[in-house]
Amino acid sequence: MNIRNFVIIAHIDHGKSTLADRLLEITGTVAKRKMREQYLDQMDLERERGITIKMQPVRMNFNYGGENYILNLIDTPGHVDFTYEVSRALAAVEGAVLLVDATQGIQAQTIANLQLAKKENLKIIGVINKIDLINDLEKLEDLKREIAKLIGQKSEEILLASAKTGLNVEKVLEKIIKDFPAPEILPAGGQKSFRALVFDSHFDVYKGVLAYVKVVEGELSKQKLIAALATGAKIQVLEIGIFKPEPASMEKLATGEIGYIATGLKNPELIKVGDTLAADPNAKPLSGYNEPKPMVWASFYPESADDFDLLKDALAKLKLNDAALHYESETQEALGRGFRLGFLGMLHLDITAERLRREYNRRVIITTPTVSYRLRSRKGETVEIFTPVDWPDSSQIESIEEPWVHLEILAPTKYLGGVMKLMDNYRGVYNRTDYLGLDHLILNFDMPLSDILVDFHDRLKSVSEGYASMNYEFLGFRTGDLVKLQILVAGEPIEAFSKIVPKNKAYNEGNMLVKKLKEIVPRQNTAIALQAAIGGKIIARETIPAMRKDVTDYLYGGDVTRKMKLLEKQKKGKKKRAAFGRIQLDSDVYLKMFRSSE
Ligand code: GTP
Repeated sequence: MNIRNFVIIAHIDHGKSTLADRLLEITGTVAKRKMREQYLDQMDLERERGITIKMQPVRMNFNYGGENYILNLIDTPGHVDFTYEVSRALAAVEGAVLLVDATQGIQAQTIANLQLAKKENLKIIGVINKIDLINDLEKLEDLKREIAKLIGQKSEEILLASAKTGLNVEKVLEKIIKDFPAPEILPAGGQKSFRALVFDSHFDVYKGVLAYVKVVEGELSKQKLIAALATGAKIQVLEIGIFKPEPASMEKLATGEIGYIATGLKNPELIKVGDTLAADPNAKPLSGYNEPKPMVWASFYPESADDFDLLKDALAKLKLNDAALHYESETQEALGRGFRLGFLGMLHLDITAERLRREYNRRVIITTPTVSYRLRSRKGETVEIFTPVDWPDSSQIESIEEPWVHLEILAPTKYLGGVMKLMDNYRGVYNRTDYLGLDHLILNFDMPLSDILVDFHDRLKSVSEGYASMNYEFLGFRTGDLVKLQILVAGEPIEAFSKIVPKNKAYNEGNMLVKKLKEIVPRQNTAIALQAAIGGKIIARETIPAMRKDVTDYLYGGDVTRKMKLLEKQKKGKKKRAAFGRIQLDSDVYLKMFRSSE
């Protein structure tokens, strides 16, 4: 069979989903009347934000030179927080179309994703997109040379196209068929030979867990019994099918094909991404994926304590569809039972909260995101800390280590000054500059991860008029001079707002936080003090004035006893509020505080 399995990889917004739209049209996969822009971004959230979050496989049929071809495309996200989606898609295909926006040129994720594709030994096709926006042909030739050099090909090999107008998209399709190899067909070893790699999954209310697979050996038809090798789950296959991109049931899946298997399993934990599904439970597992390493941690608590189990169920199902998500349960005094979640970055965190709300109707309170820290106690013990709540008293701490990353900033030469000036505000340590083509630089820094998390990316974009891009990789833990900054509302520490900060930035940060909080917390019956403190010492203070609501206003005449009763009632109310001071804050306040630090 003529099969081509491939991905389109690119920096964010360089046009992957739009190129996929044109391929869907040319191959007649999606009827014209059903076509809409960025068709493969199936989630509402993706369409609203204009970004791809999930990989999305689609199968296309195309007749070329009198032969029928099956083309399996997996559309991948471009943002660094979703690299794990890209790496899993890469392991299920044989070729990658590297797409570069002609107006932006090579950017950080162009290089990062290309390196991932090379690691998987994929055949690569270089395509410059958006050429409808370019008049300067010489510039295009320069870009062609740069891309060719990166891939290790001749510059004539690089195609020029416009995904928007459709110009040269047929040529891209032709090259996909000609250059990408067909998947390797392993000789079938008898009846029991069937193995498939699970590269993604999804929960379906009726069909249970749907495993997205690439068949590596043998073939599968309905009603067969198979096993998940890592979890040991036994599976009676309910349905098999392909992606059009909507799931479409088929009689069988053959070697080299990409499709889905409906397992009927109701427990999401029985199917793991990277696992092998096989007819023989003793078959050799395929090499799976490395577990991704969470970079950012935050706790999610259900808005109502009774909803803990519902949140647990939602997380298990979401995890099926987001293999990079890490979670475990925890308990905090003020917030009750909840979960500590690990993310690949801030956008990942934001998207997770949003998906929980939209897809599972779960609203959560989120604690301030943080990196993890390694603490050595005076007693000589080392502990890893994921939330400021667990931060011990400074008298017990011998030393503190925090995660550092290798940061690559790719920018046109003319923004060098602006970028270096920006870096003065951070703790990053400059390493070296690499040159990419004539007027592009790659600046290499070592930097504490926590410095990048908050607003670094936005500021980098603003000093470079949007042209600089960045990528980072975990380096290891290094010593840091850090303290725990606490926020007190009406004298009570709100642990969800606690933050670990560099000692020399604590004062500014504390000031900023109480000012922010003052804007967010609504006035109440009594004045509320907002304070920032380090180890019990107050370093900043703001006050929200009282909104005195006279509950006796509407009484007329001299019914003193009624008036007294009401005032008494109000006093009690105040007492109660003070006692539960920490949970009086509306969950909106938590959300707004969290948003403000994005
Ligand atoms: P992510 O998946 O979020 O990384 O984005 P993407 O790479 O899928 O990019 P997408 O296809 O969403 O395109 C980004 C923007 O560029 C959209 O506004 C497209 O309409 C536009 N675009 C894509 N291709 C072309 C092109 O060839 N010419 C022009 N003028 N615009 C294009």
